[in-house]
Amino acid sequence: MKSAKLPQHIAIVMDGNGRWAQKRHMPRLAGHKRGVDALKVVIQACLGHGIPVLTVFAFSSENWSRPTGEVSGLLELLNVALRRELAALHDRGIRLRFLGSQHGLAPELCAVLRDAEQLTHANQAMVLNICFNYGGRWDIVDAAARLAAAGTPITEMSMNAALSLAPCPDPDLLIRTGDEYRLSNFLLWQCAYSELYFSSVLWPDFDAAALDLALEAYASRERRFGRTTQSSASSAVPA
Ligand code: IPE
Ligand code: IPE
Ligand code: MG
Repeated sequence: MKSAKLPQHIAIVMDGNGRWAQKRHMPRLAGHKRGVDALKVVIQACLGHGIPVLTVFAFSSENWSRPTGEVSGLLELLNVALRRELAALHDRGIRLRFLGSQHGLAPELCAVLRDAEQLTHANQAMVLNICFNYGGRWDIVDAAARLAAAGTPITEMSMNAALSLAPCPDPDLLIRTGDEYRLSNFLLWQCAYSELYFSSVLWPDFDAAALDLALEAYASRERRFGRTTQSSASSAVPA
């Protein structure tokens, strides 16, 4: 695949863990655990392709409404998986960032997340943004509130800089697995011009081959950003 046609930033709504487990008569949490394995495979595949930024949706603002056992299981899984995988991620030159609200998270978990960010801060191979306790509306309101409190005029540029994804560029490609066709409050501002790709594969089954299909679809898209063709530029209207 031509590198010019590779997305520089892939965002993924990792959906379908619960159904994957239910189909096998396993508890939903078993699906979430297998979801972590799938993430490891996809991280490795993205590294192999030289994709600079990968952003994944792991727990939404709305996921607090799930049964308490599932919520506490997901919080625990983040903690356990991070402790288990951190050294290997660091060795591979991955910079970890956690995007989302700290509200509702235990201070000890927040400290683990901040420590992982600090440890991997200078890594250059790939940025991995893990959106946990994240919602696109929260992100926009939080950014706007901070700008307003600082007396900074709210412009597209100041909002871009204040949103949690900054300084990463907007995603070029947004993948959602699990046969659902919605954003579910993920990166609402930042996906304004992302190419959308929906896969019926349940997240625990998503692998390098499934990623390649998404990359092929992306490579075939014409991104016009409001122009009439991919390359045309008009001077009639200011940018
Ligand atoms: C996605 O899988 C992971 C989280 C939302 C935490 P789901 O748990 O939503 O799986 P389905 O959609 O019920 O199959
Ligand atoms: C979106 O999946 C959130 C994550 C993948 C973390 P959901 O399963 O929570 O989304 P809905 O409820 O189907 O919209
Ligand atoms: Mg789901």
